[in-house]
Amino acid sequence: MENELLDRRAFALRSAQVVLSGSLLTLVLESCAEAPTAASSEAEDPAAKTAVTTLTLDLNAKTNAALKKVGGAVKVTQNGAKLIVVRSSTSTYTAFSSTCTHSGCQVPVPNASGVIVCPCHGSRYDATGKVTKGPAKKDLPKAQVVLQGTNLKITA
Ligand code: FES
Repeated sequence: MENELLDRRAFALRSAQVVLSGSLLTLVLESCAEAPTAASSEAEDPAAKTAVTTLTLDLNAKTNAALKKVGGAVKVTQNGAKLIVVRSSTSTYTAFSSTCTHSGCQVPVPNASGVIVCPCHGSRYDATGKVTKGPAKKDLPKAQVVLQGTNLKITA
């Protein structure tokens, strides 16, 4: 009887050790799996995480006044989309993601020379979102723009 009681205690103790070590192993593996690295971020393409969004931009709004002249640009954050809209010509507009394809930093609108410089690691894009200098390797993802009267319908 005493041996049986001892065996039950040993069994309970061993079971508790197995459960605890399993939990610790799970915690360690989960923390390792969630740790992002700079090297892996290029492959993840942060811009690809953005869901398809449709938004309307009123060209008569004061906040969009920069789009009255060719070469002007504005940043738009609406419905979860982060975009840059550029007036490419008197009748055409271009829109693309403002999320750098290198590691996901937000890029500014094109400067006076039509160049977008990422503030994080210096990648450069032209005023159409095409990458011209790394470390980014992919262009800024384009959005579809349709001019409807004095509004732009943008699908990103
Ligand atoms: S996030 Fe690294 S260059 Fe833009």
